[in-house]
Amino acid sequence: MVYSRESNLPDIRFIVSCQHFDSIEGGARSFTVAMPKYTFGRGTLQEAGARAASHGMKTVAFFTDRHLADGPYVSTVKDSLAAEGIGLTVFSDIRIEPDDATVMEATRFLRSGRFDGVVSVGGGSVIDTAKAAMVYALYPSEFTDYFGPPVGAGLPVPGPLLPHLACPTTSGTGSECTSVSVIRLNSLNTKFVMGSPHLLPQEALVDPVVCETLPGMAVASTGFDLLCHAIECYTAKAYTQWPGVDNPLARTMLQGANPWSDMAARKALEIVGKYLERGVGDPQDREARDSLMFGASLAGMAFGNSGTHLPHAMSYGITHLMDDITTAGYEVPSPFIPHGISVVVNAPAIFRYLAGSAPERHAEAAGFLGAEHLDAVGDEVGELVSGRIVELMRAVDVPNGIRALGFDEKSVKSLAESSCRQTRAINNAPRVASREDMESIYLEALSYW
Ligand SMILES: [Fe+2]
Repeated sequence: MVYSRESNLPDIRFIVSCQHFDSIEGGARSFTVAMPKYTFGRGTLQEAGARAASHGMKTVAFFTDRHLADGPYVSTVKDSLAAEGIGLTVFSDIRIEPDDATVMEATRFLRSGRFDGVVSVGGGSVIDTAKAAMVYALYPSEFTDYFGPPVGAGLPVPGPLLPHLACPTTSGTGSECTSVSVIRLNSLNTKFVMGSPHLLPQEALVDPVVCETLPGMAVASTGFDLLCHAIECYTAKAYTQWPGVDNPLARTMLQGANPWSDMAARKALEIVGKYLERGVGDPQDREARDSLMFGASLAGMAFGNSGTHLPHAMSYGITHLMDDITTAGYEVPSPFIPHGISVVVNAPAIFRYLAGSAPERHAEAAGFLGAEHLDAVGDEVGELVSGRIVELMRAVDVPNGIRALGFDEKSVKSLAESSCRQTRAINNAPRVASREDMESIYLEALSYW
């Protein structure tokens, strides 16, 4: 990677032709960037009405959750919509980690009204439910049809959804900036990703005021989700290593690392490395919490245009097999592990495994996160990046590996078997892990300190 002397930012002339993006025979030659119109700043939620009206919305399906429904952020958005003469009906029966039953309930809600737009106010669970429910309301199908193989038929979402204004209330998922929805399939007892360019919201309205009331544990969990989105994008297989497509409109947004996702991921890593501990420890630290909110969007913009890889793939085994675990600060039915925790608990072991396949990228990512001793070479690079992630985990007191979540040596075979089904994400890593490799990684991830 080459940086311009004047700005200390990566120089685009060199990035697009740097060695990491060397083309291969039959490999992709182009990448596409998709983004919602994006607004960030304190007080931004008051713009909801004007922005909804600009999309022609007159009768809105309003998605939120039970905890937020009677709170100030939802009130602000409702008042702003009312000021523009926009009517709304609320759907708030959304659980954290939405499942197919939640989505179908939301689908029935959408079909019951004559809505011309969707406004979502909530975390990733709310925004993802709104996205998926629009798909089934407008294009009814078997539930798994729009999920990729091996669980689903991999059918493309046939056409546009309703205009969607997404207002996140956590600093992690970045769902307001992505064209994916993550849903738990109850029959398979695990989560899978539905992806389509049509799922991208038209507008993201990001008001960091919402972070002031987040518990520290939620900032830690969502902060590690942000961190993993960003580092997975930065270290993903290059887009040029994926096969090219004949139909340009068939190009998936989960297309591998590219110069644009690199820039967003780099800034997101710098933000989480600098502000995570402060943001978790002090709700009054505006600089830290506002920055984490912006970082979450940046990481969403990055992974929405490149895709995640092994830490997310291997988190699904954790959420599939967790047994009777609850987490303080989350009022949800047991068992439950916050998404960001399920992702980061394996990350140090995964990056120790992956770093040798793209050492320069991993060393850079560790540097963006604030690691020292950047002269690491060879195996030291894996230690450098995993050591920095462990340092951050310890600083904000999250579980020490998967043993702390209730797993042991006997769990690793079934964990690996479950995660093997996440084929797209596994193949987006710089080194493709076999089931046996995953077993070894889970063993290493039992504990770190
Ligand atoms: Fe995530």
